[in-house]
Amino acid sequence: MNADTLAIYPGSFDPLTNGHVDIIQRGAKLFDRIVVAILLNVEKSPLFTVAERVDIAREVFAENPNVEVDTFDGLLVEYARRKRAGVIVRGLRAISDFEYEMQMALMNRNLNPEVETVFMMPAEPYTYVSSRLVKEVAALGGSVTNLVPRLVEDRLRQKKHGRQTLRA
Ligand code: PNS
Repeated sequence: MNADTLAIYPGSFDPLTNGHVDIIQRGAKLFDRIVVAILLNVEKSPLFTVAERVDIAREVFAENPNVEVDTFDGLLVEYARRKRAGVIVRGLRAISDFEYEMQMALMNRNLNPEVETVFMMPAEPYTYVSSRLVKEVAALGGSVTNLVPRLVEDRLRQKKHGRQTLRA
């Protein structure tokens, strides 16, 4: 009998967007279990702490028993080996993502040929959504409704309000 297929969906998720959510939901249908693996120390000054990002993802996927949320450090393929995961899931939004993603997938294959990278496309409305743009728009007072889960929208508003209060 085949063991369950465990997939890892790695990233910085600063913050989680609806594009990420879409990919996770697709992955959860395709694989027995999918682990949202949040990289520790990805940026020197992330907007959300790792603990906040873990909380957000856990809350958004609270009703999905085959979605887990975890953190990792070091090489992704070593983390995959420790978890006994056979698949790394990455989202591809546009051709512009392709070169970086191909380099990572081939480097990871070189490091660990046992792990296969699977690319998935998000639903069309999310093909232009990135965490970086979401942060920029929210910080400048623009609306990110429908681009991020409601919980993230609220937390972005709290961060902006907190910063304004600090500056005042
Ligand atoms: O959300 P991101 O920033 O696109 O995710 C990038 C991530 C976390 C997948 C990538 O930086 C990564 O895997 N980092 C772990 C360190 C590692 O394994 N580096 C070699 C990758 S080829």
